[in-house]
Amino acid sequence: MALRCDLILRDATVFDGTGAPRFRADVGVTGDRIAAVGDLGAATAEREIAANGRALAPGFIDAHTHDDRAVLCGPECMLCKMSQGATTVVVGNCGISLSPVRMTRRPPPPLDLLGDESWWTFGSFAEYAERLAREPSPVNTVALIGHMSLRVEAMQGDTQRAATDGEAMRMRQRLAEALAEGASGFSTGLYYPPNMMAPTDEVIAVAEALRDVGGLYVTHMRDEGREVLTSIEETLAIGHAVDVPVVISHHKCAMPENYGRSVETLPRIEAGAARQAVDFDVYPYAAGSTVLMPSRLREDVPVKITWSIPHPEMAGRMLADIAAEWGMELEAAGERLGPAGAIFFQMDEQDVQRILAHERSMIGSDGLPHDSFPHPRLWGTFPRVLGHYARDLNLFSLETAVHKMTGRTAAVFGLADRGVIREGAYADLVLFDPDTVRDTATYEQPIRPADGILETWVNGQSAYVHGQGATAARAGRLVTRGRNG
Ligand code: ZN
Ligand code: CU
Repeated sequence: MALRCDLILRDATVFDGTGAPRFRADVGVTGDRIAAVGDLGAATAEREIAANGRALAPGFIDAHTHDDRAVLCGPECMLCKMSQGATTVVVGNCGISLSPVRMTRRPPPPLDLLGDESWWTFGSFAEYAERLAREPSPVNTVALIGHMSLRVEAMQGDTQRAATDGEAMRMRQRLAEALAEGASGFSTGLYYPPNMMAPTDEVIAVAEALRDVGGLYVTHMRDEGREVLTSIEETLAIGHAVDVPVVISHHKCAMPENYGRSVETLPRIEAGAARQAVDFDVYPYAAGSTVLMPSRLREDVPVKITWSIPHPEMAGRMLADIAAEWGMELEAAGERLGPAGAIFFQMDEQDVQRILAHERSMIGSDGLPHDSFPHPRLWGTFPRVLGHYARDLNLFSLETAVHKMTGRTAAVFGLADRGVIREGAYADLVLFDPDTVRDTATYEQPIRPADGILETWVNGQSAYVHGQGATAARAGRLVTRGRNG
């Protein structure tokens, strides 16, 4: 009997996510799974698409996001990701997660990247997961639990110090509960002032909860500048102490005096990888973005404001111009703008390329979806790697580019049957034109969907169509490391 599918994409150039060479094939989808890959000439389907040689890849996995809240607000909120071909997002990075802590007043930075107190209503990860099940996102969600969220809860807001043993035990216990409820790992943001106060021992004491379940330890390291090698050592030591894999977030060598030092950091990570599991994510831009910390401003690092509570009209403007207009020093202008966020032009393009090209890298946007004038990485990351870096600069093959955003990421995060195109895998898919795919979001016009991303499917359902936008589908699921479903 002839195979009958819900959807068949005919004559696609398949990038299967493993890094293997592309091949021409038909791909059939039934329900939420890929039913067949090959010559499906005898098969029929509800819907047939003539791909005419255009590229079909596994849906991209955004290894590093702050979409904890965005996944709760419906299809429009995730347009920034679906229009890039992303079908799964890892939330809860940099020590910041929307659970398990409730807030009654504005959360301290950087927790406020996710919104004001009205969004902080999840006292447990189970409550967050329940909301996600009741009002599903259009994309799949993989969740990490943030150290700062745990700290604020366990230390009752008094976070400018190391936690006591009792507080660390409470954090460990809360983390263990969240892992049992479907979270996949633990993230820290030791770079940020309140979390800087946490010594390595505190982090290890909390991370101990990961050991039994093999959860991931993911970190925005203490220092990405002068002490970046020391920070890599600390990260490896934490993973080693609790015997779990580690992921270094948005790997970079920050600040002009550290430009070029990826020639030191990458070999150090490779040496670590010979002993233990260590990987990293990276975004394809030479500027970062986070909350504005006035005391850390420098004359030699240009800053663009992305949001400001007291001065929303300054979003999109350079801090130096604002300071000149106000007749102030940078730091004073920064104080007046806060709470605020900004883009920091603090990296070297050669480092960005070296880190992107490294075999251990995964692509993660680190996009900030609630910023009024966001860093262009929010809308541009994946098409920029495919178009600018792989096709135009030939930094690596398109197969490798796709692998860094699919199969490799799924393997590191332990996402069963995702990140690959093969019979039986989940039908998370993206159809794109390899000749025209490119990012259009810029530092001047950051909110623009990519060119060349034609359609995106999540668990077999069409989630985004080029020129039409997000569909009404909400087929995303909570996906847990090491579990199928
Ligand atoms: Zn970070
Ligand atoms: Cu981040």
